[in-house]
Amino acid sequence: MPDFDYQLVVIGSGPGGYVAAIRASQLGLKTAIVEKDKTLGGTCLNVGCIPSKALLASTEHLHFAKERFAAHGILTGDIKVDLAAMMKRKGEVVGKLTGGVAFLMKKNKIDVISGFGKLADANTVEVTGTGGSRKTLKAKNILLASGSVPVELPFLKFDGKKVINSDQGIALPEIPRTMLVIGAGAIGLELGSVWARLGTQVTVVEFLPRIAAVGFDAETSKILQRNLEKLGMKFELSTKVESATVSDKGVELHTLQGDKKVTFSADLVLVAVGRKPFTTGLDLDKAGVKLTERGRIGVDAHNQTSAPGIYAIGDCTDGPMLAHKAHEEGVATAEVIAGKPGHFNRDIIPGVIYTAPEAASVGLTEDEAREKGLAIKVGKFAFTANGRAIAVDQTEGFAKIIADAKTDKVLGAHIVAGNASELIAETVLLMEFGGSSEDLARTIHAHPTMAEAVKEAALAVDNRTLSS
Ligand code: NAI
Repeated sequence: MPDFDYQLVVIGSGPGGYVAAIRASQLGLKTAIVEKDKTLGGTCLNVGCIPSKALLASTEHLHFAKERFAAHGILTGDIKVDLAAMMKRKGEVVGKLTGGVAFLMKKNKIDVISGFGKLADANTVEVTGTGGSRKTLKAKNILLASGSVPVELPFLKFDGKKVINSDQGIALPEIPRTMLVIGAGAIGLELGSVWARLGTQVTVVEFLPRIAAVGFDAETSKILQRNLEKLGMKFELSTKVESATVSDKGVELHTLQGDKKVTFSADLVLVAVGRKPFTTGLDLDKAGVKLTERGRIGVDAHNQTSAPGIYAIGDCTDGPMLAHKAHEEGVATAEVIAGKPGHFNRDIIPGVIYTAPEAASVGLTEDEAREKGLAIKVGKFAFTANGRAIAVDQTEGFAKIIADAKTDKVLGAHIVAGNASELIAETVLLMEFGGSSEDLARTIHAHPTMAEAVKEAALAVDNRTLSS
């Protein structure tokens, strides 16, 4: 390999980039990974999936201790919160995992180049270190895994204090008295529930008529909203935020509900209206890499960009901005670069919102299936009739299986449950194999488990549940 320093240089060490680097190295490619931040792991490990799950777990324990311990015969005194300790634990969780990625890079003999990487041409990555040092890497292939950043509203600039994004929403130094959240997607609902459990009066303002509207079943939205309202969260749906006033005292959001003008005020506002691809400063044009109309890096079915030898994966490309989507694309693309038939199924990507109960979804919702004109059969089973759910005090929610009316092939699964994020996995696998509701209904599930409710939902497709 006389002309190149590396067979693959990956820009960005999030769950797409670092996994791609490992897979490439496993396949014998000399690989380097470039990262601008101090620690590896990208948004997911440093400020996204992982720290939010740490805070969700801590505050869920708090809520359960306050609300349910007595019913379980556990008597405590006054339960207090030490926010600094909770944040410290979150930091330790993040540290363990980002350190784990550094270990994996070493173990797989991947060179970690610290600094901001940009394209100089189709085979050259220029890296600028924090002190201004420069390094030029000649690469046979380049993989862009630069991720995404929070969307800012034009009239509501992030200041980190009164107007915050999710990076700041996981690191507040004090528990706010009141908080407005704009956007009832995954971030708004997860971080909203963290602070609501800690005692903040949270009001969520959402443009659409229901929460969790994108990718989740309408019934999921209903149950989630009911449970989040029990936490004290308020929802202002079909509400358009038009402008805002930010002062030392707090924030006022001026909104339109139908033709009615309504103003909401709070100590601060968390803006959770989506994320946008991070491509700033990558100098994509120098290598002939083109963006799509929506501003994402355009790729073909093998994740190759408009420039041969340059690939892109994850949030900076089309599709849902989810860590596991980036992860799987990373594996498949590394395999393609190594000359193998990398495979990645874009149609079967589960989505989860980690509230309590959690909401998980894969494939079509009922509405989507009907909009497509498909004839479907739907089976549903409530956790109130599941033995394990009753025993562990997690009866909120349901499992729903959507199957093709004629072939019985499963087209979608929707689960709301304490551990829906885990329960959805078997339906994802079933769909990967093109399985039917009958396949699921005849699969033996251990008893007592919450997974039995998923099997019962499959039985319900054919009106033959055994437990309700
Ligand atoms: P999102 O796209 O999931 O939800 C944003 C919500 O904001 C939508 O319901 C939208 O209708 C609403 N909205 C947009 N503009 C608005 C406005 N001006 N006024 C009122 N409402 C408005 O975005 P979110 O929650 O910020 O998450 C960003 C990305 O990160 C998403 O792709 C999400 O899937 C991903 N993510 C995934 C998580 C998970 O898998 N558990 C956790 C956190 C984020």
